[in-house]
Amino acid sequence: MGTVIKNGTIITAGDTVQADLLIDGEQIALIGRNLPVEGHEVIDATGKLLLPGGIDVHTHLELPFGGTLSSDDFFTGQRAAAFGGTTSHIDFAIQPKGGSLKEGVDIWHKKAEGKACIDYGFHVAITDLRPEVMDEIPALIDEGIPSIKLFMAYKGVLQVDDTTLFRSMAKAGEHGMLTMVHAENGDVIAELTAAALARGETAPIYHAKTRPSIVEGEATGRAVALAGVAGAPLYVVHMTCVEALEQLALGRARGFPVMGETCTQYMFIFEEDLGKPGFEGAKYVCSPPMRTPEDAEALWGALADGALQVVSTDHCPFWFEGGVAGRLPGKELGKVSFDKIPNGVPGIEDRMAVMWRHGVNGGHFSANRFVELMSTNPAKIFGLYPRKGTLAVGSDADIVIWDPEKSHTISAKTHHMNTDYNIYEGMTVQGWPDRVLLRGRTIVDGDRWLGSEGSGHFLHRCPHAAVI
Ligand code: URP
Ligand code: ZN
Ligand code: ZN
Repeated sequence: MGTVIKNGTIITAGDTVQADLLIDGEQIALIGRNLPVEGHEVIDATGKLLLPGGIDVHTHLELPFGGTLSSDDFFTGQRAAAFGGTTSHIDFAIQPKGGSLKEGVDIWHKKAEGKACIDYGFHVAITDLRPEVMDEIPALIDEGIPSIKLFMAYKGVLQVDDTTLFRSMAKAGEHGMLTMVHAENGDVIAELTAAALARGETAPIYHAKTRPSIVEGEATGRAVALAGVAGAPLYVVHMTCVEALEQLALGRARGFPVMGETCTQYMFIFEEDLGKPGFEGAKYVCSPPMRTPEDAEALWGALADGALQVVSTDHCPFWFEGGVAGRLPGKELGKVSFDKIPNGVPGIEDRMAVMWRHGVNGGHFSANRFVELMSTNPAKIFGLYPRKGTLAVGSDADIVIWDPEKSHTISAKTHHMNTDYNIYEGMTVQGWPDRVLLRGRTIVDGDRWLGSEGSGHFLHRCPHAAVI
């Protein structure tokens, strides 16, 4: 017995079609008009849209960072993702200093073991490129990990120098692997931070003031140039501002294989939010920092015209009031000064709904482009397509039955992320997942959780994926 989803409108990156869809086991078996239903479970999707499950390629579950751990683990974070219509994500396994890349991968597999309830993959973040570690880069392909990441910021913690960045990128490129970068000039940020603290500027707003957009633009331009020299594909994560967009566009105009993502929060939260009274601004501290409404306008334009390829979340939640009632320490660590605030914001649950509300309903792009940015491009760029990222015969039946009429007001009181605040608190969206299927099984039905811990699969991804 299979499952037939009847009377829905199927939206892919390329098409909008009214058709039924048959699921056999974990895959889509047939798409067509008036499919026979005898012997099958039937789901009526009249008035609903069928979207491929969302893919969030930038998340940090249970990340040791800023003197604590991000507060969602592989169960709570993935369950929250599912409630929001995301059925796959890729998290960053961090190489321990002095350790191997494989050790980082093993640590992350342990975090997910027995907890995962949607499908997931890993990128590996290189923090310590010793000669023997260079040889490990191509070996990651056998682990199903064809993407590496380097941080150009977080001096003394995760930051690497240009030699490390260039060598890693060149090695990865030789083997069909993709290099990702966090592009901010960490050396300059360290100088600006020390100067601000010396002046007694300790409030959350100074997090943004000490990481100006030009510092992101400079690092983006440098990474793009190095990718051009190496002839290696590059993906710039969490791009926030005009200066960075200009550098990416310059590289693409020169024919360099470079791509970029932005994250949901940069479209809605601005630098001024970090200046809210008291310590409130700490809720919005992440890196790169929130920018201006003009930058957000440029990002919307770049998503619409293809200058940017993906929207992810950089989900890295911390408690606002942590360290109490069994909670991990959180943002309160930075009450003494902004440089001690754990960097990161929650968002894995909200990406699809807020981007639909403002991207599609707001007239920035079509429903097809929405699917492309949220699912298809992530799958193509990161070696998952066409198993994930589309609704086609043979693809995994990761399906969001999307109700374009349903309104919902986002709140920490009702969200499923393991945090005590939501950066979109009070935002009313229209368009919400009615039902979410992972490999043919319903894991979310309205407000009901039907998934199970341990049922998520590790995604062994392919190298030589698309440069878009
Ligand atoms: O503030 C952020 N973005 N925290 C997570 C780590 C990173 O830089 O992606
Ligand atoms: Zn980053
Ligand atoms: Zn990140």
